[in-house]
Amino acid sequence: MLFDTCHIGGINAACPIVRSATFEGMADENGRPAERLAKTYETLADGGAGIIITGMMAVSPLEPYQHRQVRIDTDNCIAPLARMVQRVHSHGGKIIAQLVVMGSSIMLPEGKNRIIVSPSGVTEELGKIIQESQALTKEQISSLVDSAASAARRAREAGFDGVQFHGAHGYLASKFLSPYFNHRTDEYGGILANRARFLLECIHLIRKTVGPDYPVWVKINCADFMKEGSMTFADSLQVMQWLSEEKVSAIEVSGGNMSSLPRQGPIRAIRRTKEPMYFAKYAAQAASLLKGKTDVGVVGGFRNIQDIEQCLDTTDLAFISMCRPFLRQPDLPLLWKTGSTDPALCISCSRCFGAQDVDCIFHKKEIS
Ligand SMILES: Cc1cc2nc3c(=O)[nH]c(=O)nc-3n(C[C@H](O)[C@H](O)[C@H](O)COP(=O)(O)O)c2cc1C
Ligand code: SF4
Repeated sequence: MLFDTCHIGGINAACPIVRSATFEGMADENGRPAERLAKTYETLADGGAGIIITGMMAVSPLEPYQHRQVRIDTDNCIAPLARMVQRVHSHGGKIIAQLVVMGSSIMLPEGKNRIIVSPSGVTEELGKIIQESQALTKEQISSLVDSAASAARRAREAGFDGVQFHGAHGYLASKFLSPYFNHRTDEYGGILANRARFLLECIHLIRKTVGPDYPVWVKINCADFMKEGSMTFADSLQVMQWLSEEKVSAIEVSGGNMSSLPRQGPIRAIRRTKEPMYFAKYAAQAASLLKGKTDVGVVGGFRNIQDIEQCLDTTDLAFISMCRPFLRQPDLPLLWKTGSTDPALCISCSRCFGAQDVDCIFHKKEIS
């Protein structure tokens, strides 16, 4: 039954409905979680989300911080994060810290030094912004791997129930996987095993640092869906097998990036594309491949309880994640648990996407 307790990716959860990572823009100017963020997570816990994955947290000072992004890059971050985690636990919730090396300027404040790091300095178009980047040296790559592992240690010390490393959506690990963004000629570029090296080194060191039993999750694209130079689904399946061998506890399948073909990115307008659950078929294949080894879940376009139940009943998928529906209705799982069969009210317009105090526009309208 959907609302029976379950064990997903090393975590006991009230149900297999996961709040996928959602950048909230609710840190203070020092990158510490603001009161509103703790309240947001308390509300999600009260609303019945089985597991809450935080918005992406910055692990390294090597690149400029995004606007209002929570940081987990020094030990000073541990105490404020621990206070936030305790509040979620006191509401019966489970919470995973999403760790990211950005390699992207998507949320950089205006006027900031916009030079970011990347595998090989390929220029990226982000809407009207042409984003230049600096190719990482091997020493910098090694220092980023160390930063990711130190951030995972801090997350464990702060009491998070696990970590999720962001390997999707065109952020740095995903750029390394992509033949379009990765033109390196050393052991970090070229064949897939080399393009996967950064991600696998991060996971290897994270696992070594946090120990064999701590939940380590990864979010990964099933494919990049770009005009040229995409990581393909076959590539992704291979990387997922390698991740499984590195003892990741769960893989959340997503897809696309900021340079994907129109309507092929990670955050799709479902009413226009008429394609709900847009990564489900890829994730289901991955789940059957990794059955008995690593739990696999999926995010992207889930909007009603019947589809979620059917997907879990008819595939080997261990969990279903949602992002935008939780912004509009943080209590959606509870509504379904208590008998509602209505679909989510979210219309997938994506107007909630922003740099600060992220919220559904329908709530903002109600307030103003
Ligand atoms: C406002 C907003 C912020 C997001 N922030 C993150 C993030 O920090 N990390 C991440 O992996 N994905 C992020 N995403 C992507 C979602 O986790 C999810 O993959 C995507 O929205 C598709 O799921 P949905 O159809 O349930 O919204 C964000 C999406 C939105 C709309
Ligand atoms: S702004 Fe649009 S996409 Fe975002 S939560 Fe509200 S209805 Fe959903």
